[in-house]
Amino acid sequence: MTRHPVPEPVIRPVAEADHAEISMLLAAAFGQDAEARLVTELRACGALVLEQVSVDPDGTLEGYVAFSRVTGAGAAHRLAISCLAPVAVRPDRQRSGVGTQLIEATLAQLRANGEDLVLVLGPPSYYPRFGFDAALAGKVAAPFAGTAFQALALSEAAPAAMPIEVDFATPFQAFD
Ligand SMILES: CC(C)(COP(=O)(O)OP(=O)(O)OC[C@H]1O[C@@H](n2cnc3c(N)ncnc32)[C@H](O)[C@@H]1OP(=O)(O)O)[C@@H](O)C(=O)NCCC(=O)NCCS
Repeated sequence: MTRHPVPEPVIRPVAEADHAEISMLLAAAFGQDAEARLVTELRACGALVLEQVSVDPDGTLEGYVAFSRVTGAGAAHRLAISCLAPVAVRPDRQRSGVGTQLIEATLAQLRANGEDLVLVLGPPSYYPRFGFDAALAGKVAAPFAGTAFQALALSEAAPAAMPIEVDFATPFQAFD
């Protein structure tokens, strides 16, 4: 019997036609509207570095991730730094590898784009599998701290420049 390969989800850039469905996915995954509003504001102020969706073979949008520009102060202004937030998977598709695939693919793209450093605020039990490290983020002065604040160096320039001070995009100030 011929075995047919299981079709893989496609990871692709966001189109304007996806915006409403992305807002619904974020609201469903987080159980509130704050993350959808954050994304709308990050888009409006031009702070997004990369946003991608995972779409299953039937065309259903099942995952979303955004990265926004973070500004380094002083010598760190030469570094290309971004923040991973938010990332979400449709509740009925969670824990089946969609988030992992989406995060791995987008981090590879950021590395290929020449980005130096990615920051994230999230569960210390989830992000270390992608190389994020709270000790590295401890050398980054930011409005966030603690074990949830984690960093991933994509170039040698980032750890070489540390300690550094950074500012997040303005919409994060209103985020709760
Ligand atoms: C977090 C999220 C994006 C992960 O995507 P996913 O497709 O469900 O995750 P994957 O299937 O790729 O990975 C599963 C692993 O992630 C872990 N995981 C999933 N959600 C987690 C969470 N909120 N905290 C800690 N670990 C989590 C699972 O325990 C599992 O671990 P294991 O591999 O050791 O068994 C998704 O669960 C989600 O949208 N959650 C709601 C929104 C959210 O919390 N976003 C992240 C904010 S930082």
